[in-house]
Amino acid sequence: MTDTTAAPSEAFPIPAGVFAETVTDIQHYTDRLFRFRMTRPASFRFRSGEFVMIGLPNAEKPVFRAYSIASPSWDEELEFFSIKVPDGPLTEHLQKIAVGDTVLIRKKSTGTLVNDALVPGKRVYMFSTGTGIAPFASLIRDPDTYEKFEQVILVHTCRQVAELTYGKELVADVMADPLVGELATGALRHYATVTREPYDYTGRVTDLMRSGKLFTDLGVPPINPDEDRGMICGSMEMLKDTRALLEEFGLEEGANNRPATFVVERAFVD
Ligand code: A2P
Repeated sequence: MTDTTAAPSEAFPIPAGVFAETVTDIQHYTDRLFRFRMTRPASFRFRSGEFVMIGLPNAEKPVFRAYSIASPSWDEELEFFSIKVPDGPLTEHLQKIAVGDTVLIRKKSTGTLVNDALVPGKRVYMFSTGTGIAPFASLIRDPDTYEKFEQVILVHTCRQVAELTYGKELVADVMADPLVGELATGALRHYATVTREPYDYTGRVTDLMRSGKLFTDLGVPPINPDEDRGMICGSMEMLKDTRALLEEFGLEEGANNRPATFVVERAFVD
């Protein structure tokens, strides 16, 4: 009888142009979210905030999906924060990985959520929903972010309180980090809200900006183009709504080749 179940990684050749790396750590937060870390190829370089294509060695032509790198560019490992989609072509398998397994990554990273795509300012807002916090997990661990901005405000909205755990642990780790802890203390603020259960702060970030509650809670003036910069990462709808609001506040969308006062990137999920 022939066994046709999913074969171990050695059964499929590693495609050309990808690195095969080893999973070193996994943490599951909820039935929808998990984090994993893996070895970093010595020659793999990226800018904090960029994304890369990830796959598994489980097919002749593996499925690759874009993932923001959640670790900073100086880290010797790579970290990713992922959603689990029951029938997601990649995540249905990725959510079952164990320490020691192989994960494939393409060799070139890219993205617009990088410090270089923003003109200097006093304050940078990082607006995220769900796994959209990942590129900001990279940026708030990068000393360059604190060299460029006096205040760094990480805004994260999720459906449930348990989905905020990754962000809370991350910020606590940043504050205690020997490299960036001192820079982050006093500069980094974390504003976390939920939309589907009671919590200290509730509501979509878009509504909180429209009502002004976000600014009152933080004790800062409303967003203005002289002082404020923005980065946005979430679902398509969230990007559209947040982008429109930032434009109402007078900010202008930028890109790598044309830095301006805010930048946008979709959190790639399926
Ligand atoms: P809500 O519960 O009101 O839909 P998801 O897990 O679906 O990606 O959502 C993550 C978070 O993003 C949820 O809290 C959700 O709020 C919020 N959200 C969804 N759409 C938008 C949007 N257009 N603008 C701002 N926040 C949004």
